[in-house]
This record gives sequence, structure tokens and C-alpha cells, in this order.
Amino acid sequence: MLIDRFGRSIEYLRISVTDRCNFRCIYCESRGPLQRLSARDILTYEEILEIVETAVGLGVKRVRITGGEPLFRRNIEDLIEKLSSIEGLCDLSLTTNGYLLLEKAEVLKKSGLKRLNVSLDTMDPKKFAKLTGGFDFKKVWDGLLLAEKLGFTPLKINVVVIKGVNDDEILDLAKLTLEHPWEIRFIEYMPIGNSGRWKREDVIWIEEVKGTVEKLYPLRPSSSIGGGPAKVFQWMGAIGKIGFISPLSEHFCSSCNRLRITADGKLRACLFSDQEIDLKAYLREKKGSLEEAFSLALKVKPEVRNLQATRRAMRAIGG
Ligand code: 5AD
Ligand code: SF4
Repeated sequence: MLIDRFGRSIEYLRISVTDRCNFRCIYCESRGPLQRLSARDILTYEEILEIVETAVGLGVKRVRITGGEPLFRRNIEDLIEKLSSIEGLCDLSLTTNGYLLLEKAEVLKKSGLKRLNVSLDTMDPKKFAKLTGGFDFKKVWDGLLLAEKLGFTPLKINVVVIKGVNDDEILDLAKLTLEHPWEIRFIEYMPIGNSGRWKREDVIWIEEVKGTVEKLYPLRPSSSIGGGPAKVFQWMGAIGKIGFISPLSEHFCSSCNRLRITADGKLRACLFSDQEIDLKAYLREKKGSLEEAFSLALKVKPEVRNLQATRRAMRAIGG
């Protein structure tokens, strides 16, 4: 079983299947030219399957597919289908920017995917275009409605709150829970892979967000499938839920149950640590068994995160 030096049991694996993304979210990209991985560096589906099978054998119960934008990886539904038939894997989910949902939601459903997280930071089409680098809000919105119709539950919506950008929309976004069975999750803006752009003054602390939401209607505590670091609440009478995620103001390291794998096969023990174990060396150069790689990750997983700016963009780590 995967238990680290601090007694945390690792049950959750986040796998980035590509570093590419069509969006250029202002909080995600670092300045300067984009560095792209080459095709050879990216893990193949066979390699991902081998890694997940090993991880599940070691006690991992939940897997999330991330990117970049995972729906841009060719035939992602083939990978999902294979992953969803792994015995012992209880929960398989995917994080997307939503842009390809209109095209892909149905085939994703057929491949056995149950849950989706979608990024949506604004409902103002003009602002949406500015935030993402020119993309069409309507297409994402229609994709969300389709995903709801197809029964992806719970549908979680990630909102990164940034001062002067979308903090005026906190209530409008929360109000989506009055009409949709979605979980709107507000996330503190993190300094990650965006050095040179992130400013402490731009952070809206989660207490403030919660205060704004509570002022309209009182919140009662609720819960959510998938666990994770969100504190989840509900407005009386709402069909959806509201989550608050505070990576900065209140870290959740003591209950961290996750490992991450980057698109180029680096096992990361902590989002904020650039210490990585190269799984490709184990898979392609037979450096040792994957079990050994995982136990190495347990040894380097820090007790608490170190908030230095990371080298890699969020896009390359997988959120
Ligand atoms: N701060 C907080 N959340 C971020 N995400 C990406 N970059 C940041 C950041 N700097 C989140 C987005 C997206 C997920 C993949 O990662 O909410 O939904
Ligand atoms: Fe935006 Fe996610 Fe793409 Fe980054 S990876 S640019 S956060 S959609």
C-alpha cells in the first residue's frame, strides 16, 4: 500500500495526458515562449495503462485525467474505456476547459466516464474571450448543458477568482446552483508556473468569497463525491452545491492523498515541488520496477508544500 513518511495514504492519481491546450488562460501560462513537449516524450496510452494498473495494485482508488486539455489528445475515449474497466479503480474523472464537450461529451459517456470538472471563470462572453485568449463562451456553455443532459454527475465547475477580473461575478456564478445540479468551486489564485504575472494583491482569499456567497443566502455544510480539498456547502433550496478551495490561505497538506503524473511521465509527489521521478526511465530504459518508482515518490513527498513559484506551467503539471 502507498503510505508516505507522514502516514498519509495515497489513493488518488492525477494524470496529465498532454501539455497542449488551445486556451491561454491568464492565470495558467507563464510569460515568454511556450515550451512544448515532443511527441516522443509523451506517455503512450499503453504506458499510462501500465502505470495505472500498477498504482491500483498498490492501493490507488481514484484517477483523474487532466492536461493541458485532455480532450485534444487523439482518441482519448479509447484510454478512458480501458481505464474504466480496471478492477479496483472506483472513480475515474476528467478535467477539461469544456471547449470540445459539444463534440465529445457523448462519446465520453459511452466510454464509461462518470464525472467531469470544467473550468469556467466567467459568464461574460467578452471577459471569457479575454481570459482564455479569444475563445467562445457559448460553445463551452452549450457543452456544459449537454454534459448535464447526458448525466455527468456531479458536474464540477472550477472558478479561479482573481481581483478585478471576475470577483464581481462570484454571486452570478454561485447562483447557477439554483438552477443546475452543479458544484461551483471557487479556487484561490495560485502562484504556479505563472511567475512574473501572479501578484499577491490579485488574490481574493477564500474567506472573502465565502462571505460574499453567504451574504445572499445562508450556507449549510454539504458533501461531495470524490472527496478532495474543497469545503462544500449548499444554499437552502438550491439543487447544486458550492465549494471553496483554499490552497493558499489554508493548505490541506496533512490530508493530501495524491500523486501527479505529468504528460511526459514525471511522477510528482507535490504540486508545488519540482522534484520529479522519471517514469519513462522505468518504462523504457528498465531502470527498475514501477513499484520502486512509486515508493521513491512516497519518500520525497514533502510534509507541507513550499510556496516557491514552480518552473512548470500548470498546463504541464495537470492542475
Ligand atoms: N491558480 C488556481 N487554479 C488554477 N488552475 C490553473 N491555474 C491556476 C492557478 N494559477 C486550475 C483551473 C483549472 C484547473 C485545471 O487548474 O481552475 O480548472
Ligand atoms: Fe486554461 Fe486549463 Fe488550458 Fe491552462 S490548461 S490554459 S487553465 S484551460
